[in-house]
Amino acid sequence: MDGWAERVGTVRVVGTGVMGRGIAQLAAAGGLTVELADVRPEAVAAAVEYVSGMFGKLVAKGRMTAEDAAAAKARLRPVDGPLAPADGCDLVIEAVREDLATKRELFAGLEKVCPEHTVLATNTSSLSVTAIGAGLADPSRLAGLHFFNPVPLMRLVEVIAGARTAAWLPGALTGLVRRLGHEPVLAPDTPGFLVNHAGRGLVTEALQILGEAVAEPADVDRIARDVLGLRMGPFELLDLTGLDVSHPVLESIWTGFYDEPRLRPSRITRARMEAGLLGRKAGEGFYRYVDGAKQEPPEARPPPPRRVRSGCTTPSRACGTPSPPCSAGTSSRASARRPMRWCSSPRTGAARWTWRASTACPPSGCWASIRSAVSPRGSPSACTPAWIRPPGGPRWPRSPRPDGPSRWCGTRPRRWRSGCWPRS
Ligand SMILES: NC(=O)c1ccc[n+]([C@@H]2O[C@H](COP(=O)([O-])OP(=O)(O)OC[C@H]3O[C@@H](n4cnc5c(N)ncnc54)[C@H](O)[C@@H]3O)[C@@H](O)[C@H]2O)c1
Repeated sequence: MDGWAERVGTVRVVGTGVMGRGIAQLAAAGGLTVELADVRPEAVAAAVEYVSGMFGKLVAKGRMTAEDAAAAKARLRPVDGPLAPADGCDLVIEAVREDLATKRELFAGLEKVCPEHTVLATNTSSLSVTAIGAGLADPSRLAGLHFFNPVPLMRLVEVIAGARTAAWLPGALTGLVRRLGHEPVLAPDTPGFLVNHAGRGLVTEALQILGEAVAEPADVDRIARDVLGLRMGPFELLDLTGLDVSHPVLESIWTGFYDEPRLRPSRITRARMEAGLLGRKAGEGFYRYVDGAKQEPPEARPPPPRRVRSGCTTPSRACGTPSPPCSAGTSSRASARRPMRWCSSPRTGAARWTWRASTACPPSGCWASIRSAVSPRGSPSACTPAWIRPPGGPRWPRSPRPDGPSRWCGTRPRRWRSGCWPRS
């Protein structure tokens, strides 16, 4: 419908939680009158206070004039419940909890109180827009309008057409998103749409790493920030979003793709959600939050150095004590070429060699990975090869002996225990 985006004057935001208040801020700052509604009146009051506070901060930072902030604040209008008369609404954006039955019921009620011209939009992260619209008498008036958190800062907005969405609607919503200064992208109505589907590569994999005890959340996040260059790591993102939102999203994407194994959700998020460890909003998630500030756990320290007599390639049995002289039969050649240290495996407590020249032992989870990485039945893990194979060190066997043990147990160059593979 030509010019719809420019004509929109009033939008109702239903569900004034994390997303609803962000959408309200963006719309009010963009010149729209914003009706705010929630099943919990206190959530509306909190949203008005929050958004007003955000305008105040923008004024203090010089990003908004005091007059514009006052005008935007005045455009925030709490209404008496989600199904209050909506005669003046051009658009309703729903941002209630991620549950198909809840959203369907809400839209069925909204359809009755909104005039025919009102466009309905859902901010669902992962549910099918088609399925949400199927509960409507006129599903052509519903589309997906998927904002990201925090809404004012995350400029990308996915616009999704359901199977029965009117043909003009995606273009019209695209125009409105641009009018508000954000960047629309048309996305297919598939589970997770574009961004959340792609994001599984990060979040689902990170949960897998945690489930296998390869690394702690803080380590994974550090790697995501420092190595991948992301603004936040997967566990920080889960805490920001809240597990009450993220876990249903994980499940709905998985079931939406008919139990595709690579999208399988984690028992960890279910258990933590049930325990109320939701993230920032609960004050505790994968991290703890004090007055809203994340408490960074101290970086894992390497165990205290164990003394190995310089030049020996066999560790002393007496951990942490000065090593006895090299016993007969040990060689000093390897350590002379490559400085070595030894670390105790956190699983077995047994001392093992690592070829790493640095002072740090492998992260605890890497011991399992060291074993799996050299096993043809295991798969290489997130542990960097440097932990597993020394530069210029022994080569891993290319293929297992057909009838041999699936264990590579060479500990030193040119030394292979009986029953292990020969060097390739
Ligand atoms: N949190 C995120 O990072 C994020 C990002 C993108 C999309 N989303 C989607 O946005 C929606 C809302 O997520 P959120 O994080 O803002 O949740 P939230 O829990 O912070 O807020 C949800 C609000 O909806 C209200 N509510 C629940 N049922 C209602 C109903 N029937 N009628 C009216 N209000 C109702 C609740 O009282 C609450 O205030 C979900 O569909 C979610 O998937 C969330």
